[in-house]
Amino acid sequence: MLRIGVFDSGVGGLSVLRALRQQLPQVALWYVADQAHVPYGRRSRAEIVAFAHGITRFLLAQGVHMVVVACNTATAAAIDELRRTFPQVPFVGIEPAVKPAARATRSGVIGVLATQTTFRLPRYAALLRRYAPQARVLEDPCPGLVEHIEAGEVDGPRVRAILQRAVEPMLRAGADVFVLGCTHYPFVEPALRALVGPRARILDPAPAVARRAAQLARQQGWAPLAAGPGEVTFFSTGDPARLARAVERLLGWPRPAVQGLRWQGGALVWARAAAPVPPTPGR
Ligand code: DGL
Repeated sequence: MLRIGVFDSGVGGLSVLRALRQQLPQVALWYVADQAHVPYGRRSRAEIVAFAHGITRFLLAQGVHMVVVACNTATAAAIDELRRTFPQVPFVGIEPAVKPAARATRSGVIGVLATQTTFRLPRYAALLRRYAPQARVLEDPCPGLVEHIEAGEVDGPRVRAILQRAVEPMLRAGADVFVLGCTHYPFVEPALRALVGPRARILDPAPAVARRAAQLARQQGWAPLAAGPGEVTFFSTGDPARLARAVERLLGWPRPAVQGLRWQGGALVWARAAAPVPPTPGR
């Protein structure tokens, strides 16, 4: 009976949830948005490790069999620690798609959009050394973009200004492949496309992450939880109504049920003592 936990600092992981839904439609998905702490992208590694531990403990207590870290920043900061702390749990992380970008580029110039913390951590440098030693890789942390997406703003003058400032120097340098190295960014892909033109490649690793989760599930011999579409259960450590609006707007899933959680001494607890609301039926 397969149940997968998925987490992110906020709504970004919904881009991964959508891909998981396509790959594994019958699986039950439990999604935690740590909106009390978003953005993760300017936080220290130690803070993110502590959040990732708390969320993982909560998800395991709900009976999940696998955890998808649907956040590049949390993967870079915490996935090694998570694997050490919970050796019995399969974890799937997400990293900027540098390897396919190095294969796809014709100009040899790649643009990567990710958070400051992702760029700063050694995992990202190792990725470049390993997969793109010949490429010229230009990076930009797109300051403020995660906050706009959290607020539901995925296009418009302010979003375009952030993207334009980021990609203009990349385009001038000849970049022909752009890597969405933050799970929030697939939601601004149309705005980015308008700036980089129809011929540039834009890479989102979410489908590959979902395929990896499906492969692990098969290897473990897990069966899906339901015969029809599996339920999706949403949690926010911030305002549940805000996450519900984001799920509607970004995924087009009407009226999702979102439950509130709060942090208490490094652990996640239910925000209300009342019985949890039923999960969103499969769609
Ligand atoms: N969605 C996250 C990522 O993939 C980070 C956004 C944030 O800064 O919280 O990196």
